[in-house]
Amino acid sequence: MYFYLCLLCCICGLRIAAAAVVLDATGRLNLSATCPDTFCSLTEKAVAYSDSPAVRLRELHISNCSREAVPWVVLNLTPGLRTLVIRNCGPYSIRKESLLPVRNLTSILMQRTKMWALRTDQFSVLPNLEILELGHNVLYQVNSDAFNGLTKLKLLGLQGNALEEIRENTFDPLVELVHLDLSGNLIEKLPKDIFAKNTKLETLLLNGNHLTTLLSDTLMPLTNLRLLDLGHAGQLDNLMLNIVSVQTLILEGSSLTDLIIHGGFIRLQASNNELSHLHVGNKSSVIEMNLHGNLLNGNDTYNLLRGMWSLERLDLSKNIIESLAFNEFYSEGQDLYLLPSLKYLNLANNRLVSLPSDSPILSSRLTFLDLSHNLLLTLDVEKLAGLPNVESLFLEGNRLSTFDYKKFHSKHETLKELALHDNHWSPGLYRIMFTYLNDRGVHLQSRIENKAQITSSQVDIDWPPKEASAQKLDAAGVTGIHPYWTLRDILAFTTLLVVLAILLMNLYHILEEEGCLRRFRRWRRSTVPGGNARTSTRRLNEQDSEV
Ligand SMILES: *[C@@H]1O[C@H](CO)[C@@H](O)[C@H](O)[C@H]1NC(C)=O
Ligand SMILES: *[C@@H]1O[C@H](CO)[C@@H](O)[C@H](O)[C@H]1NC(C)=O
Ligand SMILES: *[C@@H]1O[C@H](CO)[C@@H](O)[C@H](O)[C@H]1NC(C)=O
Ligand SMILES: *[C@@H]1O[C@H](CO)[C@@H](O)[C@H](O)[C@H]1NC(C)=O
Ligand SMILES: *[C@@H]1O[C@H](CO)[C@@H](O)[C@H](O)[C@H]1NC(C)=O
Repeated sequence: MYFYLCLLCCICGLRIAAAAVVLDATGRLNLSATCPDTFCSLTEKAVAYSDSPAVRLRELHISNCSREAVPWVVLNLTPGLRTLVIRNCGPYSIRKESLLPVRNLTSILMQRTKMWALRTDQFSVLPNLEILELGHNVLYQVNSDAFNGLTKLKLLGLQGNALEEIRENTFDPLVELVHLDLSGNLIEKLPKDIFAKNTKLETLLLNGNHLTTLLSDTLMPLTNLRLLDLGHAGQLDNLMLNIVSVQTLILEGSSLTDLIIHGGFIRLQASNNELSHLHVGNKSSVIEMNLHGNLLNGNDTYNLLRGMWSLERLDLSKNIIESLAFNEFYSEGQDLYLLPSLKYLNLANNRLVSLPSDSPILSSRLTFLDLSHNLLLTLDVEKLAGLPNVESLFLEGNRLSTFDYKKFHSKHETLKELALHDNHWSPGLYRIMFTYLNDRGVHLQSRIENKAQITSSQVDIDWPPKEASAQKLDAAGVTGIHPYWTLRDILAFTTLLVVLAILLMNLYHILEEEGCLRRFRRWRRSTVPGGNARTSTRRLNEQDSEV
């Protein structure tokens, strides 16, 4: 039977399937027979173990012993163990003596084990440990000496616990640490020098905490940082970051109003904050910025973008940008404002009234330009002449009434997507443009489905304030069904009609039961000319009989 199980495991690659338990004559679990290979997974907790050690065993998984404690004695029989994985068990804590027999361990993963504390020198008997993954426990107490002796540790995972504070010097022994995950805890602040010794750190995850401040020098020693995640990290308000250069900086949804970054980054994800001021020290490396849903105006963006010569993707949708006319604010000692690499620009949901003809933000490399849901009144096709490569242009939700679509199309043959609906087009124009452009292979569309995917966040639901879309009815002749009436709309409308009919029928029945209709008919009959004389007496009689 064991053989077949093994065969099954090998064929199907079911490495995680539990080993078949072999008991010896006295009913104790024979570990060397149960786990003859280098990998073994135990789910049943044996009462006792026979003495034969599993000498070949390197990786042991213990799981689902939740009602009882982890059988630490099993480690006495696994001298060569390198990797220990414990899931869904309840050890609550580890005694460091339990780990003495497996001094060569390099990896420990203990998740969902209800462990709540790490004590002094907890792992100091394991000098070779490189991976310590303790996520999704209930840790709230970590002694500042808990990680003593772990000089080779590369990865430490403490995510999804209940940590409220990290004590000073806690991470000092971890000089080789590369990856530190502190996400999903309740941390409010970090000691200033907490990362002073972790100079090799490349990934630091602090997202999903309750940070109220982050001192600017805390991250200074991390000169090798590549990914810093401070998304939904608390109420950070003002943040000053001293970083040399990171690849990816995530700061979304952290209630930031003011952000100063000394140093640079390649990608910034800072959507859904309240940023009205953003300063970047080293702009030369910036390639991508998502600043959707902030409070940046035209001047702020001008100051931010000047010098970002490598910037390729910029999302400034849902800000309060009122103007792109940057050239008027010249001051001494500033570089010429150029965005020569920009390919993707999203300015949807701002307050633009007009487009300047020569703004550097309309870079000649642009292939995607979203100007939807602004306040544009006119759009001179000449102003788009500097965009020879544009493939997607979105102008819906403005107040345009005319558009020289023929000229526009002749100058932008690369165009593939164009959105023009929800404007104040003069009667019939939208239909004519639709037909003309559609015939020439330009995809005119409402983009409702796409939009939901691109920027679906809680904050967006009420944005933008819906304007009465006057020209919606205008295109009714294009197809049998109005192009912007989806099947769902029609179904919803039909349902409403049916409900209304049912309600009306109910009302009719109620009125009839109450006798109102009968009285109404009688009243109608009695008010025909000529019947006046009898009416008043009849009415009086009726009232009497009702009383
Ligand atoms: C356990 O199993 C191994 C291998 O099958 C065998 O050599 C050993 O004698 C067994 N030990 C006991 C105590 O039964
Ligand atoms: C462990 O328990 C969970 C839920 O109690 C179950 O879904 C899972 O299959 C169990 N795993 C093993 C290996 O028995
Ligand atoms: C631990 O590793 C060392 C060096 O690799 C080796 O000499 C020693 O025998 C190992 N100890 C055990 C208990 O396997
Ligand atoms: C800016 O960043 C680039 C690329 O990361 C780097 O080469 C350069 O030295 C940095 N400049 C300054 C002034 O830090
Ligand atoms: C932008 O800056 C100019 C010149 O400094 C100033 O006149 C203008 O009021 C500013 N606009 C806004 C919206 O702050």
